[in-house]
Amino acid sequence: MSANLPPVAAVVVLAAGEGTRMKSATPKVLHELCGRSLVGHVLAAARELAPRELAVVVGHAREQVAEHLAGVDAGVRTAVQEEQLGTGHAVRMALAELGEVDGTVVVVCGDTPLLRGETLGRLVAAHATDGNAVTVLTAEVPDATGYGRIVREPGSGAVAGIVEHKDASEAQRAIREINSGVFAFDGRLLAEGLGRVRRDNSQGEEYLTDVLGILRELGHRVGAAVAADHREIAGINNRVQLAEARRVLNERLLEAAMLSGVTVLDPATTWVDVAVSFGQDAVLLPGTMLLGETSVGEGAVVGPNSRLTDVRVGAGARVDNSVAEGAEVGAGASVGPFAYLRPGTRLGVASKAGTFVEMKNASVGEGTKVPHLSYVGDATIGEFTNIGAASVFVNYDGEAKHHTTVGSYCKTGSDNMFVAPVTVGDGAYTAAGSVITKDVPPGSLAVARGQQRNIGGWVARKRPGSSAAKAAEAAEREQGGTDSAE
Ligand code: UD1
Ligand code: MG
Repeated sequence: MSANLPPVAAVVVLAAGEGTRMKSATPKVLHELCGRSLVGHVLAAARELAPRELAVVVGHAREQVAEHLAGVDAGVRTAVQEEQLGTGHAVRMALAELGEVDGTVVVVCGDTPLLRGETLGRLVAAHATDGNAVTVLTAEVPDATGYGRIVREPGSGAVAGIVEHKDASEAQRAIREINSGVFAFDGRLLAEGLGRVRRDNSQGEEYLTDVLGILRELGHRVGAAVAADHREIAGINNRVQLAEARRVLNERLLEAAMLSGVTVLDPATTWVDVAVSFGQDAVLLPGTMLLGETSVGEGAVVGPNSRLTDVRVGAGARVDNSVAEGAEVGAGASVGPFAYLRPGTRLGVASKAGTFVEMKNASVGEGTKVPHLSYVGDATIGEFTNIGAASVFVNYDGEAKHHTTVGSYCKTGSDNMFVAPVTVGDGAYTAAGSVITKDVPPGSLAVARGQQRNIGGWVARKRPGSSAAKAAEAAEREQGGTDSAE
C-alpha cells in the first residue's frame, strides 16, 4: 500500500461476539477461509494501514481467540469485554486498554474477511482529506435486512446518523445504503462520543453507531466513504455466508494469478489459499486445491484432482491426480497419476513418483524413478536409479523407524522389500522378488529369494481330467506335432 497514507494511531477489531448462528464449537472469528481465520484476514488488512497500535476486543472464548491472535500477529494487543453490551461498549473496552489515543482510530469487525487493506486506505484518506470527526464506510446493498441504515440530510445529502435495522421506521428500512461497521474516528472525539452513548434502544446495547449522530449534534463533521464493491464488507454470520465469502475470495486470488500469467482451466473447481504463489505459465487443471504455503513453479502443471499442502513444485514439473503435503517436487519431476507424497519427501530434478506410489521422509535424486505401486519411507535414493514396480521400503520394525539408502545408477528389481536399516551401493542391481536384508556392495547383483523348482507332469498326476490337465496335454501334443514336422 502507498507509503503516503495518513498516519493511523490505532486499529480496533471487534471480535467479542459469540457468533451463535455459526452453530459451532469454534468461535466465529476463528473459522477458516483460504488458509486464514476470519479475524486473520481482518488483521492482515489492518496491518496495511501500518497503525501504531492494533487491538482486538475479545470476549466469547477469549483464551482461545487470544491464543490464536498471538500466533497470527505477535504485535496485537487484546482488550477484554466481559459481557457483550454492544459495539460501543466494545470500543470503550479497547480505548481503556489503549489509553488516550491521539489521531485516527479505525474500527473494524472481526468477521469481515473480504475487506481489503486498499479499501481501508481509501477510508482513511477520505477521512483526512475531508477533515472529519468520523467517516463511516458504507455500501449500497441489494438486501439491507439486518444492517444499520445510513440516514442522510434530505437537501445536502450529508450523513445525519445511523439507525439500526431493529430501531428503524418503515421508511428508513427502505434505505439501501448501509453501515459496513467500519469507521475512521478522531481518537479524542471517539472517546467523548462514547461517553455520551445511551442504551435506550431495542437491544438495550451501547451502539457504536450512535456516536455519529452525537458528534454531528456537537457540531463536528461526519462523513461517509462508499465502498466500490458491496461484497467486500459482507459480515459472516452463518456457514452459508462463509461459503459465499470463500468463493469470492478464491475468485479474487485466482483472478490475480491469471492476470500474472497462470492458466486456470476451471476457476469454479480450483481452490487456493492466500499464501500460494505461482511462476509464469503455471497451469492448474480442474479439481485442484493448493493449500498453505504451496508454490507452483514456472510452466508446472498441477491437476486434475490434486491437493497440495505446503508443497514446492519446481519449474516444468507435472503433478497429476495426486495428494502431497510438506513435499518438494524438483524441476521437471513427475508425480502421479495417483501418488501420495507425505511430509519430508524431496523429489530431485526430473525424477518420478509414479502411479500408486507413496513416499514419506524420502529424498530422491535427480533422474531417479519410482514408477509403479511402491512405498518409499525413510529413504535416500541417489541419482538416475530405477526402483522396480511394487517395491516397499520396509522402515518399521514395530517399534522404531529405520533408514534405507540406495545409491546412484542402481536398478532394483520388481517386488523388492528393502528391510531397513540397509544400504544398496552405487550401480548395484537386485533381482525381482528379493527381500534385501543385508547391504549390497556397489556393482553387485543381489538375489534374495527361493530358487524356482518345476515338478514335471504334476497336473496330469494330481488333477487328472481337469481343464488344466487337458490344456497341458494339448500343448504337449502340439509341441510334439511341431517337432515331428521338422
Ligand atoms: C453492526 C452495526 C450495524 C452494521 C453491521 C455491519 C452496531 C450497533 N450495528 O450490527 O450498523 O450494519 O454491524 O455488519 O454497531 N461485538 C463485540 N461486542 C459486542 C457486540 C458486538 O465485540 O458487545 C462485535 C461482534 O463480535 C462483531 C461486531 O462487533 O464482530 C458486530 O457485532 P454484531 O452483533 O454482528 O452487530 P450487527 O448487529 O451485525
Ligand atoms: Mg453482524
